[in-house]
Amino acid sequence: MAAIPPLSRRNLIRAAAAVAANAATPWFAAAPVWAQPRVGEDPFSLGVASGEPTPDGMVLWTRLAPKPLDPDGGLPAEALPVTWELAEDEGFKRTVAKGRTLARPELGHSVHVEPVGLEPGREYFYRFAFAGAASPVGRTRTAPAPGAAVQRLRYAYGSCQKYESGLYGAYAHLVADAPDLVFFLGDYIYEGNPKTSGVVRSHKNPEPMDLAGYRVRYATYKTDPLLQAAHACAPWLVTWDDHEVANDYGDDRDQDFGDPWAFLRRRAAAYQAYYEHMPLRAAQIPVGPAMMLHRTLDWGSLAQFQILDDRQYRDARPCLGPEAGRGKAIPDCDERRAATRSHLGRAQEAWLLDELSGSRARWNVLAQQTLFGAARRINGEGQAFYSADGWENAPASRERIVRRWAEAKVSNPFVIGGDIHTFAAGDVRAAPGEPVVATEYVGGSVTSSGGTPDSDRLTREQNPDIGLFNSQVRGYGLVELSAGRADVAFRAVKDVTDARTPIADLAKFVIEDGRAGLTRA
Ligand SMILES: [Fe+2]
Repeated sequence: MAAIPPLSRRNLIRAAAAVAANAATPWFAAAPVWAQPRVGEDPFSLGVASGEPTPDGMVLWTRLAPKPLDPDGGLPAEALPVTWELAEDEGFKRTVAKGRTLARPELGHSVHVEPVGLEPGREYFYRFAFAGAASPVGRTRTAPAPGAAVQRLRYAYGSCQKYESGLYGAYAHLVADAPDLVFFLGDYIYEGNPKTSGVVRSHKNPEPMDLAGYRVRYATYKTDPLLQAAHACAPWLVTWDDHEVANDYGDDRDQDFGDPWAFLRRRAAAYQAYYEHMPLRAAQIPVGPAMMLHRTLDWGSLAQFQILDDRQYRDARPCLGPEAGRGKAIPDCDERRAATRSHLGRAQEAWLLDELSGSRARWNVLAQQTLFGAARRINGEGQAFYSADGWENAPASRERIVRRWAEAKVSNPFVIGGDIHTFAAGDVRAAPGEPVVATEYVGGSVTSSGGTPDSDRLTREQNPDIGLFNSQVRGYGLVELSAGRADVAFRAVKDVTDARTPIADLAKFVIEDGRAGLTRA
């Protein structure tokens, strides 16, 4: 019978060393290491990205894809180890965190690393390595400490980057504008079949209906070097609109009011591909056709953002029978104006109203998909029509938000949006004839084409609260927040077919602290 060794100091040290050795051996060490990628096949062909900054961390993203247009990215169905590194300097002399993680085939060999314990309110640099290949270096940052007195925040926001409609010259200028953050407000991809005529470049695969198809579609977009540069310049906060799944969908219905079960299967595939390609947290991994995307971003005491999802839970289009099928314009009807309708779904709307009541930030921004303020068009017979795709789909939802801004004395609320391929700015009221409570700035589209000049003019003439409505040019929005004022610039490229296009400000606005109402700078 072996004697039990006495619990000596020496044995304690040995035991501790054994525990430490076990801890130092990562649990994934036994994972098979994929062979060296062949020359000319960069595993980091989709670039890098970061997002979701908090005071002590963020998400670092990449997806291994040596053959980006293959549904499997050109990789075996195995979990593959990827190393990552975060430093205070671009030369990686002062590394503050590093580790290994697994790129899993179940998530398209994407990697979402969430480093923690970082310093608030500072810049960091990150990179990945896999099988002897190094990724590009990305710049990111942490959010300021909670309640910190921040002097300035500059952020850009874009939406609607249809690959076939243009090149991403706007992003070269966005990078040069050196934003602290970038918001992307939806239509990151478009789901349609490839077009071969009348386009600047073509989608590479048929309309995606399953995960493999959506992966190829995202990879098509993400191979663009200018889009990669925009991701690498700052952390992104993303939300989706309709085309990440299918045109004009809402809740469980596509635009044709097809079989909800078939559509939810498609939505599940599209949501998973979205997660795989965006710098989102593990908490946002979709479960079937459900993915929690709405959230709050705090930027010290200077700003608070609510990032909304007005697609997943919205009420179905009103004022149309199922036989009416697709179509954005809806007439007015009691159903549209019903107080029971919600554009966000009850849970998200309740969350939003709570968040607004609790905010103590100087600037309070709704970052959302579609046109928020009131807008209608009147036909030759004097009949009003509304877009079923934006907030006119459920104006009671908008009214509850605007009333909460006013009642809770939320400081300097304003809205940024996308979806309509238009630079638009206007006043926001709870209901017609009531005081202006907030303003709205729709930041155009990065590439997707807009309407006609006549249609733009009619929209302006028929909606006095809309001060600017221009769907003829492409670009993005740029906002600079400081203690006393916010500056908003609509940045419009000269030629969307030219990657080296010049850019100019289409319009500039100012919001003075404590004063609502659209004001040109
Ligand atoms: Fe769009």
